[in-house]
Amino acid sequence: MARVVNVDEYEDLARVKMPKMYYDFYAGGAEDKWTLRENRSAFSRIRIRPQVLVDVSHTDLTTSVLGLKIACPIMVAPTALHKLAHPEGELATARATAAANTVMVVSTSSSHTIEEIADTGPGIRFFQLYIFNKVRAMELVARAEKAGYKAIVLTVDTPILGRREDDLRNRLVLPPDVSMKLIDGIGEQHSQPTEPGSSLAAVASEYKDKSITWKDVQAFMKLTKLPFLLKGILTKEDALKAIDICVDGIIVSNHGGRQLDHVPATISVLEEVAITRNSCYVVAAAAGRCPVFVDGGIRRGTDVFKALALGASGVFVGRPVLFGLAIDGEQGVKKVLDMLKDELRTTMVIAGCPTLAHINRSSVQTPEEKPSSKL
Ligand SMILES: Cc1cc2nc3c(=O)[nH]c(=O)nc-3n(C[C@H](O)[C@H](O)[C@H](O)COP(=O)(O)O)c2cc1C
Repeated sequence: MARVVNVDEYEDLARVKMPKMYYDFYAGGAEDKWTLRENRSAFSRIRIRPQVLVDVSHTDLTTSVLGLKIACPIMVAPTALHKLAHPEGELATARATAAANTVMVVSTSSSHTIEEIADTGPGIRFFQLYIFNKVRAMELVARAEKAGYKAIVLTVDTPILGRREDDLRNRLVLPPDVSMKLIDGIGEQHSQPTEPGSSLAAVASEYKDKSITWKDVQAFMKLTKLPFLLKGILTKEDALKAIDICVDGIIVSNHGGRQLDHVPATISVLEEVAITRNSCYVVAAAAGRCPVFVDGGIRRGTDVFKALALGASGVFVGRPVLFGLAIDGEQGVKKVLDMLKDELRTTMVIAGCPTLAHINRSSVQTPEEKPSSKL
């Protein structure tokens, strides 16, 4: 096989290797996929401003997330059903992520249980929560806590599933040996597609609790000792509400363009949300309690650099991990994480930033800024 040198090449290979129905499920987005494309395009409009003649003979990419030391600020986003990519599914992803010494966020829609994934060995894992019903969700939080997961990530952008037309067209249905093990039993009668939707859409839309509000989130936070992050925030108004209820972190996310089409690219609103955090340093006692992370369209080390420059404390990647898994299993996931890390190091060295602390707002220029405004 040709040597893979960047993460997009794994996607090209996966498009050929995977059954179309499952490749489309991984790659697809909501409706016209404007947001899906924009997640990438918005990164390409940001310029890097390198500083030359800086001593970059030693680099350090290590960082801390919620007090946990990791090898670099690139983490694995929660994604559903890794067994559609590879028979070892999330077990392979968990081993690779642990070997890369970074965080894996395990999805409520995963094809292995919380405990099976924990049993792969040591590793820093967070549990992503969907609230299908409150009792079930509380059980899942308790299981994650017991199994040694380090944080809960509540996804807040999915009261129902977005319209993913590829899945509707394909009448997406799971193979017999793959299921969402943590929510087995919910909507079992939908294991076969019903007109006109995919079976997954039917389960998610009919059985998810759509009444969840900020009050419920506060109540949930009280039920666990674990740090609590919200994933799916896109506005400063919601960021402020999240800070008001003292969340431990915010993940700026549009679900990889899979939920609501025509919401902005995450990198273009990161600053709005991160500035909210910064203003808290001045105005609120919550100062520094709330790191802001971002996901969506991160495919290059330069993208990670840009996100850090615009205020992110770290990034999460979704699809590249799935495509690496589909092609090379555990090694593929490890290689995806290694390639992104190497690219970040290269970017930092050439841009004159030997450590993450050297990356700051003046390291990039956004389309709104005139070059002269930096002088
Ligand atoms: C196939 C697939 C399944 C996903 N499943 C979940 C999920 O179960 N829970 C969740 O919070 N986000 C889920 N996401 C969204 C990701 O966590 C993340 O926000 C997104 O993939 C980031 O964009 P990227 O794929 O461009 O890196 C999923 C994304 C994909 C592509």
